[in-house]
Amino acid sequence: MTNPTLVIGTDDPTIMSANDAALELATLAAEIIYHDELYHGQDAPEISDMDYDLLVARNSSLEGAFPYLVRTDSASKRVGTVIPAQSMFGKVRHARAMLSLSNGFSDEDIKDFVTRVQKFLSLDGTIPTQFIAEPKIDGLSISLRYIDGKLLEAATRGDGSEGEDVTANVMQISSLPKQLGAQSPPIFEVRGEMYMDRHNFLALNDAQASAGKKVFANTRNAAAGSLRQKDASITGQRNLQFFAYSMGEISAPIADTHWAFLAKLQEYGFSVNPLSQRCDNVDDLLATYYKIGRQRAALPYDIDGVVYKIDRHDYQQRLGQVARAPRWAIAHKFPAEQVETEIITIDIQVGRTGALTPVARLAPVSVGGVTVSNATLHNEDEITRKDIKIGDRVVIQRAGDVIPQVVRVLVGARNGAEQRFNFPDHCPVCNAAATRHEGEAVHRCSGGLNCSAQLNEGLKHFVSRDAFDIGGLGTRHIQQFIALGWVRNPADIFRLNDKAAEMAALDGYGALSVKKLLAAISTSREIKLERFIYALGIRQVGQATARLLALHYGSIEALLTAVNPDADLNAAHHALVEIDQIGVAMADDVTAFFGNANTYHLITDLVNELTILRPEYPKKNSLLYGKMIVFTGTLVQMSRAEAKARAESLGARVSGTVSVKTDFLVVGADAGAKAQKAADLGIRVLDENGYFTLIGS
Ligand code: IVH
Repeated sequence: MTNPTLVIGTDDPTIMSANDAALELATLAAEIIYHDELYHGQDAPEISDMDYDLLVARNSSLEGAFPYLVRTDSASKRVGTVIPAQSMFGKVRHARAMLSLSNGFSDEDIKDFVTRVQKFLSLDGTIPTQFIAEPKIDGLSISLRYIDGKLLEAATRGDGSEGEDVTANVMQISSLPKQLGAQSPPIFEVRGEMYMDRHNFLALNDAQASAGKKVFANTRNAAAGSLRQKDASITGQRNLQFFAYSMGEISAPIADTHWAFLAKLQEYGFSVNPLSQRCDNVDDLLATYYKIGRQRAALPYDIDGVVYKIDRHDYQQRLGQVARAPRWAIAHKFPAEQVETEIITIDIQVGRTGALTPVARLAPVSVGGVTVSNATLHNEDEITRKDIKIGDRVVIQRAGDVIPQVVRVLVGARNGAEQRFNFPDHCPVCNAAATRHEGEAVHRCSGGLNCSAQLNEGLKHFVSRDAFDIGGLGTRHIQQFIALGWVRNPADIFRLNDKAAEMAALDGYGALSVKKLLAAISTSREIKLERFIYALGIRQVGQATARLLALHYGSIEALLTAVNPDADLNAAHHALVEIDQIGVAMADDVTAFFGNANTYHLITDLVNELTILRPEYPKKNSLLYGKMIVFTGTLVQMSRAEAKARAESLGARVSGTVSVKTDFLVVGADAGAKAQKAADLGIRVLDENGYFTLIGS
């Protein structure tokens, strides 16, 4: 399988241009979605957890520096993954979202977290804030719904709002209570981690191997694979276990603190991790982290860090959440496991946007029971920075998954036979020139859709869930149809009808599957404009920008009239930049895309095959929805961060400067010049009480 680009930028976000940041954020969004799908959807990750965390951390730091570039398809806006299109399980909408956790890697990160929490709550450090530290179990989170004490529904996390219905499977797990005592509230959702211990994992893999079946890479994949069985009785044989650690919907509170909540869970018959501990301050938290770390190897199950949660539920409530994770908790991850191996060679993989990614092929080495043989090297700069050569002995690390990262070269082990890797200036797949633009870390193949790798990756994106959503058209079909010359561009997909007879004669196809595939393609001919634009895979145009463009132009005809090879592209560019939230760099990419004669031709050809639906315009029913708010001066009733978070949750945008775009200025104590400026501009000015009345708080 072709890996996508795995490029983790190293430029300092505080001095980067918005252009570069937007580009990098676009790449990061696509990469993270790709790896989420492999990890959650297919239980088959291609990169290590550590690499994944680095991608997410880089995404956050760029978003921190450029808040206005946060994309709607950003990892910070999502939890986990979308449910695979052809899931064999029904869907369950979670009554309360299932969140993920933000990560910390160093003691400093944890100190910052505690300070942040105290600041948010306007606590000055003299008021004690207690935390609970719990091991972070390496399994998959599950929500169990009990009605009148009876277990009625079990669901995976899915994308956080909607998961898979695994009730039948969960019912087979003997270690879970199916009936709670009379003291449990009528509606009670408990959440926790389903896991497989190491002993059962090794036994399962032995049995799988002897039966010639797939072995699992780690305990988490084994747990996920065992739970998601079509035949639920198999789940029952896999000895899955569950640690309870949080709640979903609950009809009446059962505790004021997390610690008391955990005690209740135990009373109800759930397993709660015995290493959980209450801590009074940051030193306690860190001491617990190191203590659990020392116990890690001897534990019967895998853990990959320690989770800290603020104890008081009222504080949790006030802290709320940032898009995907609660503000009141953080995961302190353990460092990755490291081993030595050798780089046998370096290959180049080509992604959808033509980015060339170097991948080290390693002498296979076992890390924590998993054999690894590939590591991503990210880009040319990374190879130079780490001084990596073919033949080098290297230290690699993994944190529980398949493809590790090269940490450093063992320079002392060199014998002179090592070879420098010359980054290619031509695409290894199509031989077109591969160039590196100024300010970019990646080399890109200039072959466009003539490059089969780009075509392949581009088509994968084109048919993906948020684009044309052609579930039946998998990676293997795409590769095969490209190789047969049946598909040379997206429009060809809609002409596959002509190949029905030949397709039915191919190995692995039958008349029925061909019929189904062609029916799925045919259904997808009717598509919303925003999905269509997103499907085109224009650089930097994720779902959010696609929607902006769709709303702005209203129809594909209007878009293609405004931007095409014969249009005044300067004027088109200018008009694009005028659209709120579209910057110069995005406008560059959009004009370059539609302004290219070849591309334009491919698109008009494609449009002829389709019915493209006009966008639906959003309803604006919240008072603050879409409004721009500025806070100034000191707020008394809550911290600035808390006030900002509330406003954003009501659909407002919060800015630091007063301008003609400002709708409300909220003035606290000791406000400075902003109030005058707002008055001059005729902007509505509210005091703190007025604002809280406005938002109904
Ligand atoms: S708390 C809002 N506690 O880690 C609360 N999560 O990386 C969110 N996990 O999705 C979860 N052990 O699957 C929590 N003691 C623990 C955990 C834990 C493992 C998992 C869980 C979560 C993921 C986030």
